[in-house]
Amino acid sequence: MKFFVDTADLDEIKDLASTGMLDGVTTNPSLIKKAGKEFIPLIEDICKIIDGPVSAEVASTDYETMLKEGKKLAKIADNIAVKVPLTEAGLKVCKELSDAGTMVNVTLCFSASQAILAAKAGATFISPFVGRLDDLSQDGLQLISDICRIYENFPDFHTQVLVASIRNALHIVESAKMGAHVATIPPAVIRQLYHHPLTDKGLAAFVDDWAKTGQSIL
Ligand code: G3P
Repeated sequence: MKFFVDTADLDEIKDLASTGMLDGVTTNPSLIKKAGKEFIPLIEDICKIIDGPVSAEVASTDYETMLKEGKKLAKIADNIAVKVPLTEAGLKVCKELSDAGTMVNVTLCFSASQAILAAKAGATFISPFVGRLDDLSQDGLQLISDICRIYENFPDFHTQVLVASIRNALHIVESAKMGAHVATIPPAVIRQLYHHPLTDKGLAAFVDDWAKTGQSIL
């Protein structure tokens, strides 16, 4: 499973990239607002840090302007994935950009039928939002399971399932068990993945006992 980080915070991206665990970055207009920096130069900077796909989202909602924006974003770097919303116009833009060889991430997916449309439009990634469905007491992980099963049935679908709106480790582990290709994860949740109380407890005991041996490896 590939790990993308869901942030536009350059310091977080640099820090997480240094672990060697990071395969890409996703951003959205809300994350750009939070970063408080100018959009295009910020995406350029992110693309210099990360070799894998960097999602940059269009801002308009009509076909013509979205297409223009998508083409402009695609020119920033070879690893740009243009992010478009799951609307009729968004999927038209997806088809056009995908046919031209640009990676496209179709975002705001909340149903399996939408995911089928995105695959038919040639999307590189489909982004189903697990956490936002859970927030409404709908089963976000069931949607991931459904999309993975459907895509497996059709070898001519090449769209990767990019699990988005992740809130916790269970979202990641269950999605991995279902065969989802990518998880885009907030920085804090990536860091949580390392932790288990028994690891901390066991390590403290080993450090303590080692000190009592009076030895040194170096
Ligand atoms: O970037 C898309 C998605 O991951 C947003 O997540 O936490 O705003 O629901 P969230």
